[in-house]
This record gives sequence, C-alpha cells and structure tokens, in this order.
Amino acid sequence: MADLTTTFLGITTPNPFWLASAPPTDKEYNVRRAFEAGWGGVVWKTLGEDGPPVVNVNGPRYGVIHGADRRVLGINNIELITDRPLQTNLDEITRVKKDYPDRAIIASIMVPCEEGAWKAILPRVAETGCDGIELNFGCPHGMSERGMGAAVGQVPEYIEMVTRWCKEFYGKPVIVKLTPNITDIRYPARAAKKGGADAVSLINTVSSITSVNLDTFSPEPSIDGKGSHGGYCGPAVKPIAINMVAEIARDAETRGLPISGIGGVTTWRDAAEFMALGCGNVQVCTAAMTYGFRIVQEMISGLSQWMDEKGYTSTADFIGRAVPNVTDWQYLNLNYVAKAKIDQDACIKCGRCYAACEDTSHQAIWMHPGRVFEVNDAECVACNLCVDVCPVENCISMVPMQPGQTDPRTGRVVSPDYANWTTHPNNPSARAAE
Ligand SMILES: Cc1cc2nc3c(=O)[nH]c(=O)nc-3n(C[C@H](O)[C@H](O)[C@H](O)COP(=O)(O)O)c2cc1C
Ligand code: SF4
Ligand code: SF4
Repeated sequence: MADLTTTFLGITTPNPFWLASAPPTDKEYNVRRAFEAGWGGVVWKTLGEDGPPVVNVNGPRYGVIHGADRRVLGINNIELITDRPLQTNLDEITRVKKDYPDRAIIASIMVPCEEGAWKAILPRVAETGCDGIELNFGCPHGMSERGMGAAVGQVPEYIEMVTRWCKEFYGKPVIVKLTPNITDIRYPARAAKKGGADAVSLINTVSSITSVNLDTFSPEPSIDGKGSHGGYCGPAVKPIAINMVAEIARDAETRGLPISGIGGVTTWRDAAEFMALGCGNVQVCTAAMTYGFRIVQEMISGLSQWMDEKGYTSTADFIGRAVPNVTDWQYLNLNYVAKAKIDQDACIKCGRCYAACEDTSHQAIWMHPGRVFEVNDAECVACNLCVDVCPVENCISMVPMQPGQTDPRTGRVVSPDYANWTTHPNNPSARAAE
C-alpha cells in the first residue's frame, strides 16, 4: 500500500486529509474521534477574541441542494465562528495536541482587523503547541458585517497587513484562508504572499441563498419567516475551488506558494485532483458532515490504491502534475479534431443525446428506425453535450481524428501541427501582428 505520509509546511501527517475549520472540528470530543477515525489533521473551528461568546441563531442554520437521489450536492450555512469561550478551546487544543503528536492541529482565527487584537490572541494560541494558524478571511456572513471574515478577504491590502502582523507575533506557519467571493482570486493570494504567508488555503464558502419556500416566501434556512445569505459548500463548489487553486498555482507571482485545497472534497479522486493542481494537502468539511468521520478511510484506501496502480510511492509524485496543462483558451490546439461515437451495445435507446443535439447543438445525431442512434460526422462539432447528458457512462466517447484524415464537416485535412488562436488567420490581432 502506498505511503500517504505528507509534509505540508514542515508539518508531517500520516495522510493528506485534514478536516476544515467547521462543526466537525469544533471541540475536543469531535477532534479525538476524527483522529481515531484516521484524519491526518484538523483546522480547529475558528476562534474569536476573548469576551462575550458569539451568538448563533437558534433555528435552522443549514440549507441544502439535493440531487435527484437526495444525495447532498451542496450545503449552505449561516453559522458563525465558535460560540464556545476562547480559553475552553485553547485548553482542549493543548490536550488533544499532546495526545496526538503525529497529527496536525491548526488553529483558525478571526479577530477584528486591529493589530492589538492579533497581538493579544497569538501568544495564547502559540502556548497550545498547535502546529500553525489559519487566518479566516473567508466567512461570507455574520462576521463580515462586523468587519471580519470576507470583509478582510475582499481587500488585498488588509490581507497583507494582517498576515504581516501574524508573521511578526507568531513563530509557526501562517496559512491564509481565502474567500471565493471575489472577482480574481490571484489578488488576495498575491497579497497573502506579500504579507509573508507560508501558504494559502481555499476556498471558504460561496455567498448564496439555497432556496425560497414558496408557501411562506422565505429564503431557506428560515428563521421566523426571514432568511439571510449564507455560505455554500460541498460537491457543488468543487469546480469553483479547483479553478481558483489552478489560478494561484500557475500565476507567476504566487507559483510555488503552498496551497491547502478545500471545497467539495468527497472522494479520494477529488483530493487527487486538487493535489494534481498543486495542493500540498486537502481539507474536508461537507463530506464529513454528510457521511461521518469514517469516510476518511475510503479516501485513504482509494488514494493509496490509485497511487499503487500508477506506481507513485509518495504524494509528492503527483502533486502539481496537472498545473502545466492548465492554459488560457487562446493557447488551445485548434488543429485538434474529434467526433462523438456511440457504442451501440451500451446504448439503452433513451434518446437524450438525440434531443440535446437536435434541439440545442448541431443536429449531428440520426435516429434510425428501431431507435438506433448514430452520429453524423459531417455535422458533429465534438461539443461533448451528448456525452454529458447520456445516462450510460462511456456509452458515447469522443474519438480524436488522426492527422491526414479529412474532417467531413469542414473538408479540411487534419494537421499534425499545433496551432492556436494567437496565430489564427481570423484573429484580427494576429493579422495586425503580421
Ligand atoms: C456549518 C459550517 C461552518 C463553517 N465554519 C467555518 C469556520 O468557522 N471557519 C472557517 O474558516 N470555515 C468555516 N466553514 C467553511 C469550511 O471550512 C470549508 O471552507 C467549506 O465548507 C468548503 O469545504 P467543503 O466543501 O468540504 O465543505 C464552515 C462550513 C460549514 C458548512
Ligand atoms: S458532440 Fe455535440 S455535435 Fe457531436 S453529436 Fe454530440 S451533441 Fe452533437
Ligand atoms: S443518450 Fe446514451 S443511452 Fe441514450 S440514446 Fe443516446 S447514446 Fe444511447
């Protein structure tokens, strides 16, 4: 079995699966059980400054989007940071860290954007012996209205300033957790790096309303007939998260900055994708909240089995391997030509591909008598829609045409050469450059 031991910021854990800062990591009881189940590390539920505890709502705090089989696709929450006293959390962190020296405990922190507030809390956090801190600049609700969370994460100058304070007042690794509620993720990441961050983690939750109750006309989750925006997470946000991870991994200004990947990690495959895009490890919240702590065991066995199959002996063998393959649209090879092909033995004759292509794509699928569906290469633009809507996995595949073959749609011979939009004759900029 492949060795999943992973070192992130000098912190070595038995596997790259950490629990993200959230209810699963809210207290000693949970974290001990999480470690017993096999999690490599946790980011403790966000700590706030000393004083009167944070007040949560006393009604529903989660909304949900279900798939057709009622599987949870996304959860939205209006929960705040920990509502337990700071000292209670610090005492618990100290005890758990002592008992689990081989696991990571990172303290997530959110205090007001004032130097004194950070200077006051950091030595107390350091005393716990935790392995590092994560700055919660991401929470989109409740705390941002008080000038914290996403309110800081949306202003790169604040990120840089607070990160610099933390590096000054704290000696161990500082991870900056980024909000996705921003137009271009590269700016906050660059600011974190400028401030001296050892790593960034992303994403925190996406600002959202999950649904509206059409009897009461209240957004859900509804508190006495009213709803508020919350933070969306779970499998639905993974595409947003991995795009943002990739943007940071390939940006010249942040390339090489360690990244902890978060957002919809539910299976070992999700984790491997985040890591292939440059993440040194991953953090998980919704999957643990939906399926319990033991889901990590499937992640561990799945990842190590895949690594064995591929001949990888360490996670370092595949971390970042997909980064060079992320490019901008104008560099995609316009000489690459493919055609959809239907496997008649696998086809269940449902007709979804036909309806999709006929009504909304390129009228490239014939329906022959007996509901036999066949692709007409002379019309197929290889858009992939039929593959996406077909209910049978691998029933339709995209088959690349070989150089020298003639594309019956365009009448052009497929070229073996790479050519992109920057040199294409229809590109006015390319012409101007000639
Ligand atoms: C109920 C709930 C509470 C959360 N609380 C925090 C928090 O206190 N601090 C924080 O940094 N992130 C918090 N998060 C965000 C998660 O740490 C994580 O970034 C997000 O859920 C995306 O990961 P996932 O798709 O695996 O859930 C919370 C998420 C949920 C669902
Ligand atoms: S790939 Fe697109 S154009 Fe080709 S058959 Fe499928 S849906 Fe039609
Ligand atoms: S969508 Fe798939 S299964 Fe349905 S008719 Fe088309 S190829 Fe066959």
